[in-house]
Formats: sequence, C-alpha cells, structure tokens
Amino acid sequence: MKPAIISTLLATALAAPSLIERGSCPANSKYPAGAISPYGLVPISSSHPSKKYGFVPKGIVTPNDLCTIVDLKIPDSINGELTLLKTCTLTFSFPTPSQAAPHKLSFSGGGHFTFSGYLTGFGGDENTSYDNQPLIGPSPPFPPPVMKPGSTYTIADLPCGILPGSGGQTVSGALCSQDSKLEWEQTKAGGDGGCPVGFFVVVH
Ligand SMILES: *[C@@H]1O[C@H](CO)[C@@H](O)[C@H](O)[C@H]1NC(C)=O
Repeated sequence: MKPAIISTLLATALAAPSLIERGSCPANSKYPAGAISPYGLVPISSSHPSKKYGFVPKGIVTPNDLCTIVDLKIPDSINGELTLLKTCTLTFSFPTPSQAAPHKLSFSGGGHFTFSGYLTGFGGDENTSYDNQPLIGPSPPFPPPVMKPGSTYTIADLPCGILPGSGGQTVSGALCSQDSKLEWEQTKAGGDGGCPVGFFVVVH
C-alpha cells in the first residue's frame, strides 16, 4: 500500500506545477508549435478616414471608430505539405488583464465585435487608411457573438486557400466594435512570458 500512496503523491506533486501554469491562462490558449501570430497590426479610423496609422505595436478598437487590421502570413506549404486545402483556424486569445501581464490589455464595453475579411493576398500596410483599405473579401461566417476577457475565441475555421508556389500569402481582416473599447499588445503564440494575447492561426 505505502509505495503506491507515495508514488501517487509524487506523481501529483510533479504534475502540479504544469497544471497550475496552464490553469492560469484561458482554456485553449496553449498553441501547438508552428502557430502563426500576426506580422502587423494597422489601425483605421472612420472619423479620420484619410489618416494612415501604419504598423503599431498595440491593436486598438473603439466604438464605431477605430478598427485594427490584423495581417497574418500563411505559408504555402508546411513540412512539405501544401496548405491550399488544409484548415486554417483563426483564434483570438483574450485573457484578462492580469492573465495578460506583463503584456497590456484593456477592455470595456458590451463585447460585440466584427471581423471583416480582406481578399487573400491583401493586408494593411503603411498606406492603409479607412478610405484606402485592402480589397474586401469573405468574412468569417460564424464569428463569436460576444467576446470578453478570460476566454479564447474561434473566429474562423476555413480552408487556408494559400496558392501553391506563392511563397505564402497574407490573410487579413479588420476587428471593429459598435460597443467596446479594446487595446491589446499582441504576443507570439507562446505568450512571451504571459498568457498568449491576440490573434493566432493554427494550420491543420
Ligand atoms: C506606399 O505608397 C508609396 C507611395 O505611393 C509607395 O511607393 C509604396 O510602395 C507604398 N507601399 C506599399 C506597401 O504599398
């Protein structure tokens, strides 16, 4: 009996640290190796339609005004397999401000967001303004109706559609809201020392 109890206690003790660590981030925010984070965030403002914000370190959304364009580059093949017909899952990791620390995240409002897609191959850049957006493309058909801190949300789950031989293509969309203010410091998929924050694509 005793050895069994001891080994159970040992196993529990050894397992505890990783459980605690994982429990401190929202569910489903542990990304597999190879998860893709955005290469650029570009705000646009409907109240300043010709203003070019260029690439910024922190995404920002304000009610009915500022949106942030999120640019991701998806490779045309991974480990020798074409990504054309693979599924690209776009998620938004939305931890609470304390879970996000040391990275900055602030949120207030009702949590109604929209994510409007651009055509594959087009994304925001230093010339982008509200009046000069990338070419409009299909938007995710089933976005989450409400997003609030403390969860990870699946925005889209679609065929990647990256052209073979393209060397990879930009996939991009604009996050906007009618009722919420959000600022987030985008991290890499590993979280850069905190919980992952922002947008990520997993190709599978
Ligand atoms: C931005 O506009 C300038 C001037 O028209 C142009 O030279 C530059 O290539 C543009 N940048 C991009 C990324 O399209």
